[in-house]
Amino acid sequence: MPSTARPRTIVVTGVSKGLGQAMVQKFCEAGHQVFGCARSATLLAQLQSRVPAATCQLTQVDVADQPAVAAWAASILQQAGPPDLLLNNAAIINPNRNLWDIADAEFRRLMDINVNGTFHVIRAFLPAMIQRRKGVIVNFSSGWGRSVSAQVAPYCASKWAIEGLTQALAEELPDGMCAVPLNPGVINTEMLRSCFGHGATYYPDADEWASRAVPFLLSISPDHNGMPLTVPG
Ligand SMILES: NC(=O)c1ccc[n+]([C@@H]2O[C@H](COP(=O)([O-])OP(=O)(O)OC[C@H]3O[C@@H](n4cnc5c(N)ncnc54)[C@H](OP(=O)(O)O)[C@@H]3O)[C@@H](O)[C@H]2O)c1
Repeated sequence: MPSTARPRTIVVTGVSKGLGQAMVQKFCEAGHQVFGCARSATLLAQLQSRVPAATCQLTQVDVADQPAVAAWAASILQQAGPPDLLLNNAAIINPNRNLWDIADAEFRRLMDINVNGTFHVIRAFLPAMIQRRKGVIVNFSSGWGRSVSAQVAPYCASKWAIEGLTQALAEELPDGMCAVPLNPGVINTEMLRSCFGHGATYYPDADEWASRAVPFLLSISPDHNGMPLTVPG
């Protein structure tokens, strides 16, 4: 049996739409145990109706809300133990705008979700993973975590932060564990439509992406620790 076929316990943030939703469906189809979160109760309920409740539990959690993340993690750790794979996927992008036209609250909100939210999730799950000296953490970065464009400076700042945070974390982990920043590629989701407009339609959809990304995610091992990865095209 290939190593990617072993059932894993997988935690994913940001599963109500886009890449998160597509990953949940593929992980469930492959028989893994999945715990997911997002803010939209309506979209979570729609997804929950399409996946088996016994192996996929979706919870309304805002990753920017540290106590809510801690309670969610405690419940998962109690039920299923530390995750084998922790995917920090939840993020938002700013509406296309020059940096000096971004409202203070808008900038802070983006950082609260994209950077602080990732920290909250790591802080809540990683001590239990370290106790077991096992597990892979994938923090979703972007092409804009390694290059930049005008009009998306807050988003770029948050993804460059994810790259730095993840690579520093990788140096702290014990042997046998792994943390990587991941550029998923360019995929036609609501986020891409926000910044690319109609141009987003020239890119693959989330389901096609997940067919490539899910086996790739399951193949990430301690040998990759600290490496900035990109989902193969
Ligand atoms: N699409 C691309 O081409 C692309 C390229 C590079 C990187 N990425 C990265 O890939 C990841 C997924 O992007 P996507 O394109 O799938 O975006 P998306 O379609 O906008 O979906 C984002 C997901 O994150 C959730 N989310 C946002 N804020 C949250 C919060 N505070 N707490 C919990 N969940 C939250 C959203 O659900 P709710 O609104 O219900 O909370 C949604 O389920 C992101 O990290 C993004 O930066 C995407």
